[in-house]
Amino acid sequence: MRAVVLLFLVAAASAEVYDRCELARTLQAAGMDGYWGVGLADWICLAKWESSYNTDAIDHDSDGSTDFGIFQINSRWWCNDGHSRTANACGISCSELLSPNLSVAIQCAKRVVRDPNGISAWVAWRVHCQVQDLSSYVAGCGV
Ligand SMILES: *[C@@H]1O[C@H](CO)[C@@H](O)[C@H](O)[C@H]1NC(C)=O
Repeated sequence: MRAVVLLFLVAAASAEVYDRCELARTLQAAGMDGYWGVGLADWICLAKWESSYNTDAIDHDSDGSTDFGIFQINSRWWCNDGHSRTANACGISCSELLSPNLSVAIQCAKRVVRDPNGISAWVAWRVHCQVQDLSSYVAGCGV
């Protein structure tokens, strides 16, 4: 019985980390491929380097703000974390960005990319994805 419970907990916890192709299919179904000119492989590369596809990812920045979820969206501009100054342009609680259901995170990422900086808002995209061959990020996914 204890082993069964443990297995269940491990399965539930690891479900927070997306498989590369599972993420590609989820983002494609949500209209991310080509959204505001950003290709699907760019989104997958960004998520890989920002969070390792982990919806639970939380990182604290030196300015007191915090990055949340698979796209590491920041509390200073995009969401309300309840204790730091925010523009909350996505109109959400930051904790909603940690859900295994990506629908809120996807809507907010779309909001971020519509800003003048576009996808350059993500440092990891500039460092690891910009001007790179990104075909391996969607290879074998049938997308
Ligand atoms: C994810 O959340 C959205 C919005 O609440 C909902 O419409 C959708 O059915 C959910 N998807 C899954 C797979 O549960």
